[in-house]
Amino acid sequence: MVKHLLKVTDLTLSELWKVLKLTREIKASRKLGLALFPYLRGKRIALIFEKPSTRTRVSLAVAISDLGGYSLELEATKLQLSRGESLEDTVKVLSNYVDAIVARVRSHDTLNLMAKYAKVPVVNALSDLVHPLQAISDMYTIWEVFGRLRGINLAFVGDGGDNVCHSLLLSSSMLGVNFRIACPKEYRPKKSILREALSNAEESGAEILVTEDPYEAVKGADIIYTDVFVSMGFEEEKEERLKVFLPKYRVSKLLLESTGRRTLFMHCLPARRGEEVTSDIIDDTRISLIFQQAENRLYSAGAVLSILVGGGTSGIG
Ligand code: CP
Ligand code: NVA
Repeated sequence: MVKHLLKVTDLTLSELWKVLKLTREIKASRKLGLALFPYLRGKRIALIFEKPSTRTRVSLAVAISDLGGYSLELEATKLQLSRGESLEDTVKVLSNYVDAIVARVRSHDTLNLMAKYAKVPVVNALSDLVHPLQAISDMYTIWEVFGRLRGINLAFVGDGGDNVCHSLLLSSSMLGVNFRIACPKEYRPKKSILREALSNAEESGAEILVTEDPYEAVKGADIIYTDVFVSMGFEEEKEERLKVFLPKYRVSKLLLESTGRRTLFMHCLPARRGEEVTSDIIDDTRISLIFQQAENRLYSAGAVLSILVGGGTSGIG
């Protein structure tokens, strides 16, 4: 059966751990200058982008090439889709050319439709709803830094309905990471995502909390995470969003120092310095993990595709 990755919860817990362990293996091999096992040998992977991307686009293309595969970057505006060809026909045609379709889309419904018609795995490279590749990679980074995931206190401050926040919520709930969200009441996580996370949390023991108070959310936090207040596709709401989010939900030294412990900072990037986070925090290499996160996107991208497309599995664990 074809395995799609539209949300992180499309993976079982054991598959998610396989991805994390393979990420560690790929990173270690690369750091040691060892030849990588060609998990994607002969695999052709289409990368479709309806929105801009730096990290996701480049990490995927490089990872595929490193692992022996071949990627085709397809801007949606250059496909016949942009002239009205149906998504169904497009996906059926592509399924005969490539071994997987990775897509960054405006609407998550587009991915659901792609998955319905594709004969090959469809992988979400960001939608308005979720960003699983980012959250999987971030879980790896947290594991790498702390040596464990269960019981880590992760606080997200900002837009609770944000795609990255949704995926962090789902992956935390699977892996036993305590996840607190501080967001305005108009920007809470989507109910269906929260429900799914609360149900996972019953299994994993993760504590989930949504509050309007940033100081309550970050109490005891090992990590504070934020993302932009105006995600791609929401530009028209910029003025009204900034009015609601600022200054209360900006991550500042004051907030970071209120946690009662040493707290690290994470951001998926791209960031708007001074808006959702002050520059002194994002640029402080003692606490900011942003570039380690971005680097790990390369290894985790390879791991995800190896497991889904290449039948890869980690030799470790
Ligand atoms: N974090 C992330 O997905 O970045 P890009 O939009 O540059 O791909
Ligand atoms: N929430 C952001 C994430 C970018 C990687 C956006 O969708 O624009």
